[in-house]
Amino acid sequence: MPTFPQLRLRRLRENPTLRDMVRETYLSPRDFIFPLFVTHGRDIRDEIAPMPGIYHLSLDNLLTEVKEVADLGIPGVILFGLPAEKDSSGSEAYDDHGIIQEAIGVIKQATPDLLVITDVCLCEYTSHGHCGVIHDGGIDNDRTLELYQRIAISHAKAGADVVAPSGMMDGQVKAIRGALDHETFQDTPIMAYAAKHASAFYGPFRTAANSTPQFGDRKSYQMDPANPRMALREIEADIEEGADIIMVKPALAYLDVISKARQSFAPPIAAYNVSGEYSMIKSAAANGWLDERSATLELLTGIKRAGADIIISYHAKDVAHWLNSRR
Ligand code: PBG
Repeated sequence: MPTFPQLRLRRLRENPTLRDMVRETYLSPRDFIFPLFVTHGRDIRDEIAPMPGIYHLSLDNLLTEVKEVADLGIPGVILFGLPAEKDSSGSEAYDDHGIIQEAIGVIKQATPDLLVITDVCLCEYTSHGHCGVIHDGGIDNDRTLELYQRIAISHAKAGADVVAPSGMMDGQVKAIRGALDHETFQDTPIMAYAAKHASAFYGPFRTAANSTPQFGDRKSYQMDPANPRMALREIEADIEEGADIIMVKPALAYLDVISKARQSFAPPIAAYNVSGEYSMIKSAAANGWLDERSATLELLTGIKRAGADIIISYHAKDVAHWLNSRR
Protein backbone atom coordinates (compact mmCIF):
# COMPACT_ATOMS: atom_id res chain seq x y z
CA MET A 1 0.00 0.00 0.00
CA PRO A 2 1.45 3.39 -0.97
CA THR A 3 1.57 6.05 1.70
CA PHE A 4 2.02 9.82 1.52
CA PRO A 5 3.48 11.44 -0.55
CA GLN A 6 2.63 8.79 -3.21
CA LEU A 7 -0.82 8.37 -1.67
CA ARG A 8 -2.92 11.53 -2.00
CA LEU A 9 -6.60 10.82 -1.42
CA ARG A 10 -7.43 14.41 -2.31
CA ARG A 11 -6.78 13.46 -5.96
CA LEU A 12 -10.20 11.85 -5.96
CA ARG A 13 -11.85 14.95 -4.54
CA GLU A 14 -10.39 17.74 -6.62
CA ASN A 15 -12.35 17.29 -9.86
CA PRO A 16 -16.12 17.49 -9.26
CA THR A 17 -16.92 15.00 -12.03
CA LEU A 18 -14.54 12.43 -10.64
CA ARG A 19 -15.74 13.21 -7.14
CA ASP A 20 -19.26 12.31 -8.28
CA MET A 21 -18.03 9.12 -9.94
CA VAL A 22 -16.42 7.77 -6.79
CA ARG A 23 -19.42 8.56 -4.57
CA GLU A 24 -20.33 5.39 -2.66
CA THR A 25 -23.84 6.24 -1.50
CA TYR A 26 -26.67 7.78 -3.51
CA LEU A 27 -30.06 9.00 -2.44
CA SER A 28 -32.98 8.73 -4.82
CA PRO A 29 -36.65 9.63 -4.41
CA ARG A 30 -37.23 5.89 -4.89
CA ASP A 31 -35.63 5.18 -1.50
CA PHE A 32 -38.44 6.93 0.33
CA ILE A 33 -41.81 6.32 1.91
CA PHE A 34 -43.85 9.40 2.84
CA PRO A 35 -46.05 9.31 5.99
CA LEU A 36 -49.56 10.76 5.79
CA PHE A 37 -52.06 11.68 8.52
CA VAL A 38 -55.66 11.23 7.46
CA THR A 39 -58.72 12.53 9.20
CA HIS A 40 -62.51 12.50 8.87
CA GLY A 41 -64.30 15.57 7.53
CA ARG A 42 -64.07 17.63 4.37
CA ASP A 43 -61.67 20.24 3.09
CA ILE A 44 -59.26 19.76 5.99
CA ARG A 45 -55.60 20.55 5.45
CA ASP A 46 -54.32 21.56 8.88
CA GLU A 47 -50.61 21.93 9.33
CA ILE A 48 -49.21 20.01 12.30
CA ALA A 49 -47.48 22.72 14.36
CA PRO A 50 -44.22 20.94 15.26
CA MET A 51 -43.98 19.42 11.76
CA PRO A 52 -44.07 22.25 9.20
CA GLY A 53 -45.10 20.97 5.77
CA ILE A 54 -46.99 17.98 7.21
CA TYR A 55 -50.78 18.12 7.40
CA HIS A 56 -53.87 16.46 8.74
CA LEU A 57 -55.70 15.70 5.51
CA SER A 58 -59.33 14.84 4.88
CA LEU A 59 -59.94 12.35 2.10
CA ASP A 60 -60.69 15.00 -0.56
CA ASN A 61 -57.33 16.66 0.08
CA LEU A 62 -55.58 13.31 0.39
CA LEU A 63 -56.35 12.82 -3.29
CA THR A 64 -54.25 15.79 -4.43
CA GLU A 65 -51.49 14.95 -1.96
CA VAL A 66 -50.99 11.39 -3.20
CA LYS A 67 -50.95 12.53 -6.82
CA GLU A 68 -48.18 14.96 -5.92
CA VAL A 69 -46.25 12.23 -4.07
CA ALA A 70 -46.55 9.86 -7.02
CA ASP A 71 -45.54 12.59 -9.53
CA LEU A 72 -42.39 13.24 -7.48
CA GLY A 73 -41.30 9.64 -8.00
CA ILE A 74 -41.80 8.60 -4.38
CA PRO A 75 -42.93 4.96 -4.52
CA GLY A 76 -45.09 4.74 -1.43
CA VAL A 77 -46.87 6.17 1.57
CA ILE A 78 -47.50 4.96 5.11
CA LEU A 79 -50.83 5.92 6.62
CA PHE A 80 -51.76 7.09 10.10
CA GLY A 81 -55.37 7.82 11.02
CA LEU A 82 -57.24 10.09 13.36
CA PRO A 83 -60.44 8.30 14.34
CA ALA A 84 -63.81 10.01 14.84
CA GLU A 85 -63.79 8.69 18.40
CA LYS A 86 -61.35 6.90 20.64
CA ASP A 87 -62.44 4.11 22.97
CA SER A 88 -60.83 1.61 25.33
CA SER A 89 -60.37 -1.06 22.66
CA GLY A 90 -59.54 1.26 19.75
CA SER A 91 -62.42 -0.08 17.72
CA GLU A 92 -62.13 2.26 14.73
CA ALA A 93 -58.75 0.66 14.00
CA TYR A 94 -60.47 -2.54 12.80
CA ASP A 95 -63.69 -0.99 11.50
CA ASP A 96 -64.03 -1.76 7.78
CA HIS A 97 -65.23 1.83 7.34
CA GLY A 98 -62.58 3.39 9.56
CA ILE A 99 -60.55 6.33 8.35
CA ILE A 100 -57.61 4.22 7.17
CA GLN A 101 -59.79 1.73 5.35
CA GLU A 102 -61.53 4.60 3.53
CA ALA A 103 -58.22 6.30 2.78
CA ILE A 104 -56.80 3.16 1.18
CA GLY A 105 -59.74 3.09 -1.23
CA VAL A 106 -59.24 6.73 -2.17
CA ILE A 107 -55.51 6.30 -2.80
CA LYS A 108 -55.89 3.10 -4.78
CA GLN A 109 -58.36 4.87 -7.08
CA ALA A 110 -56.30 8.04 -7.52
CA THR A 111 -52.83 6.50 -7.78
CA PRO A 112 -53.10 2.72 -8.21
CA ASP A 113 -49.35 2.20 -8.45
CA LEU A 114 -48.47 4.08 -5.26
CA LEU A 115 -47.56 1.54 -2.58
CA VAL A 116 -49.88 1.84 0.40
CA ILE A 117 -48.43 0.73 3.72
CA THR A 118 -50.57 0.79 6.84
CA ASP A 119 -49.51 1.11 10.46
CA VAL A 120 -51.07 -1.73 12.44
CA CYS A 121 -51.39 -0.39 15.97
CA LEU A 122 -53.98 0.79 18.47
CA CYS A 123 -52.48 3.88 20.09
CA GLU A 124 -54.12 6.40 17.77
CA TYR A 125 -57.50 4.78 18.44
CA THR A 126 -57.51 4.04 22.16
CA SER A 127 -58.81 6.49 24.76
CA HIS A 128 -55.85 5.60 27.00
CA GLY A 129 -53.31 6.08 24.19
CA HIS A 130 -51.54 2.75 24.69
CA CYS A 131 -50.72 0.37 21.86
CA GLY A 132 -52.56 -2.55 23.42
CA VAL A 133 -55.45 -3.74 25.54
CA ILE A 134 -55.28 -2.69 29.19
CA HIS A 135 -55.84 -5.43 31.75
CA ASP A 136 -55.10 -5.14 35.47
CA GLY A 137 -53.25 -1.89 34.88
CA GLY A 138 -50.86 -3.45 32.35
CA ILE A 139 -50.81 -4.14 28.61
CA ASP A 140 -52.23 -7.59 27.88
CA ASN A 141 -49.94 -8.91 25.14
CA ASP A 142 -51.99 -11.85 23.87
CA ARG A 143 -55.38 -10.14 23.87
CA THR A 144 -53.79 -7.31 21.95
CA LEU A 145 -52.64 -9.76 19.26
CA GLU A 146 -56.24 -10.64 18.46
CA LEU A 147 -57.01 -7.00 17.77
CA TYR A 148 -53.87 -6.59 15.63
CA GLN A 149 -55.07 -9.56 13.57
CA ARG A 150 -58.42 -7.83 13.00
CA ILE A 151 -56.71 -4.56 12.05
CA ALA A 152 -54.35 -6.24 9.59
CA ILE A 153 -57.16 -8.17 7.92
CA SER A 154 -59.36 -5.11 7.57
CA HIS A 155 -56.43 -3.15 6.04
CA ALA A 156 -55.66 -5.97 3.62
CA LYS A 157 -59.34 -6.25 2.66
CA ALA A 158 -59.43 -2.52 1.98
CA GLY A 159 -56.48 -2.94 -0.40
CA ALA A 160 -53.34 -2.20 1.62
CA ASP A 161 -50.21 -3.38 -0.20
CA VAL A 162 -48.13 -3.88 2.96
CA VAL A 163 -49.05 -3.99 6.65
CA ALA A 164 -46.66 -2.66 9.27
CA PRO A 165 -47.23 -3.76 12.86
CA SER A 166 -45.74 -1.14 15.21
CA GLY A 167 -47.03 -2.05 18.67
CA MET A 168 -44.00 -4.07 19.83
CA MET A 169 -46.12 -6.87 21.30
CA ASP A 170 -44.37 -10.22 21.43
CA GLY A 171 -45.56 -12.54 18.68
CA GLN A 172 -47.30 -9.82 16.66
CA VAL A 173 -45.71 -10.77 13.35
CA LYS A 174 -46.56 -14.45 13.76
CA ALA A 175 -50.12 -13.64 14.77
CA ILE A 176 -50.66 -11.28 11.84
CA ARG A 177 -49.00 -13.61 9.32
CA GLY A 178 -51.26 -16.44 10.48
CA ALA A 179 -54.39 -14.30 10.28
CA LEU A 180 -53.56 -12.93 6.83
CA ASP A 181 -52.80 -16.40 5.48
CA HIS A 182 -56.02 -17.75 6.93
CA GLU A 183 -58.00 -15.02 5.12
CA THR A 184 -56.31 -15.60 1.73
CA PHE A 185 -53.95 -12.64 2.09
CA GLN A 186 -50.89 -14.90 1.99
CA ASP A 187 -49.30 -12.54 -0.56
CA THR A 188 -49.57 -9.40 1.60
CA PRO A 189 -46.10 -8.57 2.94
CA ILE A 190 -45.37 -7.54 6.52
CA MET A 191 -42.99 -4.70 7.24
CA ALA A 192 -42.26 -5.23 10.93
CA TYR A 193 -41.33 -2.39 13.24
CA ALA A 194 -38.84 -4.88 14.67
CA ALA A 195 -36.50 -2.72 16.72
CA LYS A 196 -38.70 0.13 17.82
CA HIS A 197 -37.25 2.04 20.72
CA ALA A 198 -38.99 3.96 23.51
CA SER A 199 -37.96 7.34 22.13
CA ALA A 200 -38.47 10.98 22.99
CA PHE A 201 -38.29 11.65 19.26
CA TYR A 202 -41.90 10.47 18.75
CA GLY A 203 -43.08 13.60 20.58
CA PRO A 204 -44.29 15.58 17.55
CA PHE A 205 -46.02 12.49 16.11
CA ARG A 206 -47.95 12.07 19.35
CA THR A 207 -49.07 15.67 19.09
CA ALA A 208 -50.10 14.98 15.49
CA ALA A 209 -51.92 11.74 16.30
CA ASN A 210 -53.11 12.82 19.74
CA SER A 211 -51.72 9.51 20.98
CA THR A 212 -49.73 10.39 24.11
CA PRO A 213 -50.37 7.64 26.70
CA GLN A 214 -52.80 8.90 29.32
CA PHE A 215 -50.91 7.06 32.06
CA GLY A 216 -47.43 5.59 32.29
CA ASP A 217 -45.21 5.26 29.24
CA ARG A 218 -44.41 2.72 26.53
CA LYS A 219 -41.29 1.28 28.12
CA SER A 220 -42.87 -2.09 28.90
CA TYR A 221 -43.19 -2.76 25.18
CA GLN A 222 -40.92 -0.39 23.21
CA MET A 223 -37.21 -1.11 23.49
CA ASP A 224 -34.64 0.40 25.81
CA PRO A 225 -32.47 2.65 23.60
CA ALA A 226 -29.35 1.30 25.31
CA ASN A 227 -29.75 -2.31 24.06
CA PRO A 228 -28.32 -3.04 20.60
CA ARG A 229 -27.96 -6.78 21.27
CA MET A 230 -31.61 -7.01 22.23
CA ALA A 231 -32.45 -5.06 19.07
CA LEU A 232 -30.85 -7.84 17.04
CA ARG A 233 -32.87 -10.44 18.95
CA GLU A 234 -36.07 -8.51 18.23
CA ILE A 235 -35.18 -8.39 14.55
CA GLU A 236 -34.25 -12.06 14.44
CA ALA A 237 -37.51 -13.02 16.15
CA ASP A 238 -39.54 -11.00 13.64
CA ILE A 239 -37.74 -12.59 10.68
CA GLU A 240 -38.46 -16.04 12.13
CA GLU A 241 -42.10 -15.07 12.63
CA GLY A 242 -42.39 -14.14 8.96
CA ALA A 243 -41.46 -10.47 8.57
CA ASP A 244 -40.66 -9.62 4.95
CA ILE A 245 -39.09 -6.23 5.71
CA ILE A 246 -37.57 -5.30 9.06
CA MET A 247 -37.52 -1.81 10.50
CA VAL A 248 -35.32 0.10 12.87
CA LYS A 249 -36.86 3.13 14.52
CA PRO A 250 -35.90 5.93 15.12
CA ALA A 251 -33.07 6.20 12.59
CA LEU A 252 -30.49 8.81 13.54
CA ALA A 253 -29.66 7.75 17.09
CA TYR A 254 -29.69 4.09 15.97
CA LEU A 255 -27.37 4.00 12.96
CA ASP A 256 -25.31 1.33 14.72
CA VAL A 257 -28.38 -0.89 14.96
CA ILE A 258 -29.13 -0.38 11.25
CA SER A 259 -25.55 -1.21 10.39
CA LYS A 260 -25.42 -4.34 12.57
CA ALA A 261 -28.77 -5.50 11.21
CA ARG A 262 -27.44 -5.03 7.67
CA GLN A 263 -24.43 -7.21 8.49
CA SER A 264 -26.44 -9.87 10.31
CA PHE A 265 -29.62 -10.28 8.26
CA ALA A 266 -30.59 -10.55 4.61
CA PRO A 267 -34.14 -9.11 4.46
CA PRO A 268 -34.62 -5.52 3.32
CA ILE A 269 -34.20 -2.95 6.09
CA ALA A 270 -36.39 0.09 6.53
CA ALA A 271 -35.34 2.97 8.76
CA TYR A 272 -37.92 5.34 10.22
CA ASN A 273 -36.61 8.90 10.28
CA VAL A 274 -39.16 9.95 12.90
CA SER A 275 -41.10 13.09 13.67
CA GLY A 276 -38.69 14.55 16.25
CA GLU A 277 -35.79 14.12 13.85
CA TYR A 278 -37.76 16.11 11.29
CA SER A 279 -38.82 18.80 13.76
CA MET A 280 -35.24 19.40 14.89
CA ILE A 281 -34.11 20.19 11.37
CA LYS A 282 -37.17 22.25 10.52
CA SER A 283 -36.90 24.39 13.63
CA ALA A 284 -33.17 24.97 13.29
CA ALA A 285 -33.62 25.82 9.61
CA ALA A 286 -36.50 28.20 10.36
CA ASN A 287 -34.16 30.07 12.70
CA GLY A 288 -31.47 30.23 10.06
CA TRP A 289 -29.20 28.06 12.19
CA LEU A 290 -28.77 25.23 9.67
CA ASP A 291 -28.96 24.98 5.91
CA GLU A 292 -32.00 22.73 5.60
CA ARG A 293 -31.20 21.14 2.28
CA SER A 294 -27.60 20.18 2.93
CA ALA A 295 -28.22 19.16 6.56
CA THR A 296 -31.15 16.97 5.59
CA LEU A 297 -29.37 15.31 2.68
CA GLU A 298 -26.35 14.65 4.89
CA LEU A 299 -28.44 12.96 7.58
CA LEU A 300 -30.44 10.90 5.10
CA THR A 301 -27.24 9.84 3.35
CA GLY A 302 -26.02 8.67 6.77
CA ILE A 303 -29.12 6.52 7.19
CA LYS A 304 -28.65 4.97 3.77
CA ARG A 305 -24.90 4.52 4.31
CA ALA A 306 -25.63 2.66 7.56
CA GLY A 307 -27.52 0.10 5.49
CA ALA A 308 -31.16 1.13 5.09
CA ASP A 309 -32.85 0.06 1.85
CA ILE A 310 -36.00 2.05 2.56
CA ILE A 311 -36.25 5.35 4.43
CA ILE A 312 -39.55 6.49 5.88
CA SER A 313 -39.26 10.24 6.18
CA TYR A 314 -41.37 13.38 6.47
CA HIS A 315 -38.65 14.96 4.34
CA ALA A 316 -39.43 12.64 1.40
CA LYS A 317 -41.19 15.30 -0.68
CA ASP A 318 -38.52 17.92 0.05
CA VAL A 319 -35.81 15.46 -0.89
CA ALA A 320 -37.54 14.49 -4.12
CA HIS A 321 -37.83 18.18 -5.05
CA TRP A 322 -34.16 18.74 -4.29
CA LEU A 323 -32.93 15.64 -6.08
CA ASN A 324 -35.18 16.11 -9.10
CA SER A 325 -34.00 19.70 -9.54
CA ARG A 326 -30.30 18.94 -9.19
CA ARG A 327 -28.49 20.21 -12.29
C1 PBG B 1 -47.65 4.00 16.54
C2 PBG B 1 -46.54 4.77 15.93
C3 PBG B 1 -45.77 5.81 16.48
C4 PBG B 1 -44.94 6.25 15.47
C5 PBG B 1 -45.19 5.46 14.35
N1 PBG B 1 -46.17 4.54 14.68
C6 PBG B 1 -45.84 6.49 17.79
C7 PBG B 1 -45.44 5.88 19.04
O1 PBG B 1 -45.00 4.73 19.11
O2 PBG B 1 -45.62 6.57 20.03
C8 PBG B 1 -43.95 7.38 15.57
C9 PBG B 1 -43.59 8.02 14.31
C10 PBG B 1 -42.87 9.31 14.42
O3 PBG B 1 -42.52 9.80 15.51
O4 PBG B 1 -42.66 9.89 13.37
N2 PBG B 1 -47.30 3.06 17.46
